[in-house]
Formats: sequence, structure tokens, C-alpha cells
Amino acid sequence: MEEVLTLDGIILRPQALPVRPDWAKIFGRQAPLLLEIGIGNGEFLVWLAQNNPEANCVGVEIDRDYLEKARNRVRAANLANVRLIPMEGSKALSRLFAPDSLSALYLNFPDPWHKKRHQERRLVNEAFAWLLASRLKIGGQFLMVTDYEPYAQEVVEAFKSCPAYEPLWETPMRTELPGYYQTKYARKWLPLVARFSTSASAKPKASNCPNGWRELIRW
Ligand SMILES: C[S@@+](CC[C@H](N)C(=O)[O-])C[C@H]1O[C@@H](n2cnc3c(N)ncnc32)[C@H](O)[C@@H]1O
Repeated sequence: MEEVLTLDGIILRPQALPVRPDWAKIFGRQAPLLLEIGIGNGEFLVWLAQNNPEANCVGVEIDRDYLEKARNRVRAANLANVRLIPMEGSKALSRLFAPDSLSALYLNFPDPWHKKRHQERRLVNEAFAWLLASRLKIGGQFLMVTDYEPYAQEVVEAFKSCPAYEPLWETPMRTELPGYYQTKYARKWLPLVARFSTSASAKPKASNCPNGWRELIRW
């Protein structure tokens, strides 16, 4: 018997999801796919979905309590273009999204893992940059906000070391991103934003990776 995909219409059950599911079928429409990993209480994802009604928005979160808070927020906002998945972020990116399928990935305040012995737990590293390069569509974007500069620097280095990307701006750090939603962490801490985008012209066919690492913004 086919497993039930969702019990509440919003949270998808990972065990019922096939590898690289048909997102158009899940959402009931073909639309650009936006992903946020580590959605916390869901405030950014709700803002994203409200401001991009033409997009299908997926939120991935490892913590059940946060996921339920986010689900309640999505429900209260009466949004049909959001689905949530309880799953580890890099696993979700690898397993659930086909090459050239994502229009954007957003990371807002990913856990910084300050202690040296814990740093390998950080979500973004070189391998992640490569994986994302394959999953993003040409012209797709990666945007990360953090208040922890060493992590931001590490992310820039990870994207620089992946030949699939090239810089858009001369200075990789910027201090402003007007119009971008500020989550509770952004309201509390001075955030740094790393933003990368892929360019239409330079995607190398051989590696199937989009070209263009873009912006690191600080404000
Ligand atoms: C510091 S909080 C930021 C929450 C939210 N993005 C915001 O800005 O308000 C980090 C969030 O990422 C989630 N998280 C951490 N590592 C994760 C991973 N590998 N995959 C998915 N979620 C993760 C945590 O459970 C937590 O909700």
C-alpha cells in the first residue's frame, strides 16, 4: 500500500517520500522551487511564500518542536505553497532535489558550532557547495545570513574553491540587503549575509554545475 505523504497537508513524511519526488505533483502545480534549510519557527519561510506566491516553497528542519511551530505559522497564514520536511538539511538536498531543480536555497543563521571540535558539524562546507551547484538551476541563488564572521568566511572560501562558481562582486562582504526579511536572530544580532547566485552563461556542461559565486553581504 502506498504510504500517506502528509497527515496535515503541510508536513511531508520523509519515509513516504521517494528519492527526488515529483514536486509539481506534491504542490499540484509546476512552479519555481525555493528551499530553506533550518527554518526554525518558520517566520522567514512564511514571508518568502507570501512574497513569492508564484513559487513552491519547501522548508527543511531537523528539530520537531520548531517544525511544529513553523507548521502552525504556515497554517495560520493560510498558505498553499509551502511544505515542510523533518530531515537533516544536506541529506534532504542530496536525496529530494534533482540536478537543476532549485531556484534558490536560503540559510538564515545556520548553527555556527563555535567549538573547534564541533566545526565539522557545520552545514556548509566545500562538499555542500558542490552538491548545491548541481541542484541549483542556472541562474539560481544561494543566500546565507549569519552573525558569525568566521563561518561566513569559511562559506566564501568553500564557494571560491568550487570552480563551478565565480564571484559577482569585487568585495565578497556587504553590509546591507534591503528588503530582506529579518528573523528573530537578525533582530538580535548583527548579521552577515552571504549570497551566491548562478549565471546563465557559464554553467559547464561536464560537471553539471552552475557557474557564479556571488555576494557576501554584511549589515
Ligand atoms: C539558529 S537557528 C535559526 C532558525 C531560523 N533560520 C532563524 O533565522 O530564525 C538554526 C536552525 O537550524 C536547524 N538546523 C540545524 N542544523 C540543521 C540541519 N543540519 N538540517 C536541518 N536543520 C538544521 C535548527 O534546528 C534550528 O532550527
